[in-house]
Parts: sequence; structure tokens; C-alpha cells
Amino acid sequence: MATAAEAQAMRHAVALAARGLGHTSPNPVVGCVVLDAGGRVVGEGWHQRAGGPHAEVHALRAAGERARGGTAVVTLEPCDHTGRTGPCSQALIAAGIARVHYAVADPTAQATGGAATLAAAGVEVEAGLLAEEAEAVNEPWLTAMRRGRPFVLWKFAATLDGRSAAADGTSRWITSAESRADVHRLRAEADAVVVGSGTLRADDPHLAVRDREGATQPLRVVVDTDATIKPGARVLDDAAPTLIAVAEDAGVAHLPRRPGVETVRLPRAETGLRIPALLAELHRRGVRSVLLEGGPTLAGAFLAAGAVDKVVGYLAPVLLGAGPAALADAGITTIAQALRLETADVTRLGPDLRVTAVPVTAIPVPAVPVPVPVAPAPLAEEN
Ligand SMILES: NC(=O)c1ccc[n+]([C@@H]2O[C@H](COP(=O)([O-])OP(=O)(O)OC[C@H]3O[C@@H](n4cnc5c(N)ncnc54)[C@H](OP(=O)(O)O)[C@@H]3O)[C@@H](O)[C@H]2O)c1
Repeated sequence: MATAAEAQAMRHAVALAARGLGHTSPNPVVGCVVLDAGGRVVGEGWHQRAGGPHAEVHALRAAGERARGGTAVVTLEPCDHTGRTGPCSQALIAAGIARVHYAVADPTAQATGGAATLAAAGVEVEAGLLAEEAEAVNEPWLTAMRRGRPFVLWKFAATLDGRSAAADGTSRWITSAESRADVHRLRAEADAVVVGSGTLRADDPHLAVRDREGATQPLRVVVDTDATIKPGARVLDDAAPTLIAVAEDAGVAHLPRRPGVETVRLPRAETGLRIPALLAELHRRGVRSVLLEGGPTLAGAFLAAGAVDKVVGYLAPVLLGAGPAALADAGITTIAQALRLETADVTRLGPDLRVTAVPVTAIPVPAVPVPVPVAPAPLAEEN
């Protein structure tokens, strides 16, 4: 049983973990609080970036000798392997920690086993304290590890009558400044932002994060089967890295070749490129969370592929009466096939409503934890 001080420490550890969102991939976000033998907080830390010290190491350093005989409260099971830093299980044992509370077990074959190592060394170990909160803060990484592909959040903006653009294709500023600022928060928390070639042509989007101090820019991904992107497209500037996904047989001689802009060839699907192949390629590159920014056609393809984990819709009190819907064909032809969602949150942003919802129709999940692929640059710097 956890004490009130330990439960409070875990709540704080979850908040600490959240500070790492958008900076730690391909690693999870983790927070840790160390209490001394009398239950006083003597150290805290969070995993700040891949390749840097883990949360436990930061917290133990801050605690120093006061950790001896104390309790470590961690949002994720301490790792048991040597990556770019040593195993946290050994660091906790060496610091003389007597008790460990962790919220969520590490699902990766590579890092799991920390709890068993600690217990074998005589440390009292308990799992599950505030597990729901700790799961929520690490949702993208845990989903990626369990599904073997990046977590996908589909974001769209629509009028109250469900339109994503006017009949003439114009769609700028359907929603308010507050909603648009919130989208920049989502971009800053994501490893990659994805759009289709239709949006590229219609909007010439930039897709980088603006007005968020210290943000790590996401990888900008355009899904452009026949490499139609213009060399002057805004997404090709140097504000953030860009990946152009094209078909294996696409002509790419005209595409810019410079650091920060890469092209990847993927197999064709009946329409466009194969979505699972795109996600596998992003996963291989260390991307653990994707913000899918549309448009309606590509979003339909992701949904049809069972590759949307969460939906965020920004609904503006605006009516258009004509123009494309927020979502195009997703392979649903009759009401019995409708994709039902569970509403997780409704928030008012200025004049708009932000609705967050999760598909309740089961998406197939591999039965066993998927081994984490060795991920090369640009994002990958595991542990
Ligand atoms: N309100 C919003 O939230 C929002 C967001 C984004 C866009 N929009 C609006 O949406 C409109 C553009 O939407 P859109 O539906 O025409 O374009 P889109 O969804 O951005 O792109 C669709 C294109 O992506 C390519 N693609 C590659 N692989 C695909 C696959 N597996 N399945 C489907 N498509 C694939 C296809 O073209 P190729 O195969 O030829 O490459 C397809 O035509 C614009 O008016 C834009 O302003 C609104």
C-alpha cells in the first residue's frame, strides 16, 4: 500500500514526465521523485531528451546520500538495460533505495526486467500506483510499443456543418486563433506531422511549430505519391526537417537535395501509398507519435487502415452549406460499419469546441510486446 506522501509524489512525477513530451522520442517520457526514509521529498527529475540521463538518475543525483533507505516513485518501471546510459535498476540499488513504487510496467522486451532485478536485490517493489494517470501521459509511446507503429492522432478543423473547406477549396482560418495556437501545442508534442498531397497543393502548409519556446520541431511528412511537390513549397524550408514519401517508381530528379529534406520510396496502394508501409518507415526512423493533419482523403485512408488512435476535432460556429466534408471515404458504406468513438474530452477554445475522442471499435493489437527496432537518425538516439 502506498502512503499519502507516495501517492502525492507519483502525481508530481506524472507532471514532471509531461515536461518531456515532444523531446524524448524514441524514448518514453518518465518522471521520478525520491523520498528520504522519513518520507520527505529529496530529489526529483524527468527524462529530458533521448540520449540524456533517465528520470531516476536526475532524481538520485539531486537526492545524494539522502536517498539511502528511501523510496523512489517512478512513472514507468525502471529500465534494466545498458543503452547510452546504465540501467536505472542498478543506479537505484547503488543509491541504497529501499522501496520503489512504479506506475506502469515497461512493455519493451529490451528494457523490461527492472522490477525483478530490484526485488532480487532486496528492494521492496510495488507496481500500479496511479497507473491510469501515468498511462495517459505516456499514451503515444506506450501505444507505439504495443502496436509496433507510431501513435496516430488525427486532427481536423470543421464548421458546425462538418465542412473542412468552402466549395471553392479555400479553408484558411475556419477556426479561431485559440484553436490554431492549440494545434501548435499538438505539433510540438508530436514527433511527426503528416499531410497528403491534396493539402500540399491547396494550402501550401508550413507545418512547423510557431510561438512555443524550446519546442522540438517535428518531422514534416508529405504523402505525395508522384512527387508533385514544388521546389518552392513552404514545407521545404529549413524551419524543420521534411520527409517526402513517394512511390517506388516516382520521378524525383526535380526534388531538392539538401540536409533536412529527405525522400523515401514506399509501395503503392490501390490509391496512393500503403499507409502501413508509411507508418513502418516512420517507426524505423524513431517516430513514436504522428499528428495527422489531413486532409479528408488521407484521413479516410488512415481510418480505413485502422491507423487512427485518437481524434481531435476543432468545431467552429460557422456554416458553409457546401464544400468538402471533414472526412472523405473511409471504406464505410452502411451505418452498421460506422466507426464509433468514445468522447474523452470537450473543451471550449474561444468561440470553438475542441472534441477529443477515441475509436471504440477494436484495432488489432499484437499479442506480445513488439521488439523496438534499432532506429537511425534523425530522431533516434535511444536512451
Ligand atoms: N479543415 C481541415 O482540418 C483541413 C486539414 C487539411 C486539409 N484541409 C483541406 O482539405 C483539402 C485537401 O484535401 P484532399 O482530401 O484533397 O487532400 P489530402 O487528403 O491532403 O491528400 C489526398 C492525396 O494524398 C495522396 N495519397 C497518398 N497516399 C494516399 C492514400 N493511401 N490514400 C489516400 N490518399 C493518398 C493522394 O494523392 P497522390 O496519390 O496523387 O499523391 C490523395 O489524392 C484542401 O481544401 C484543404 O484546405 C482541411
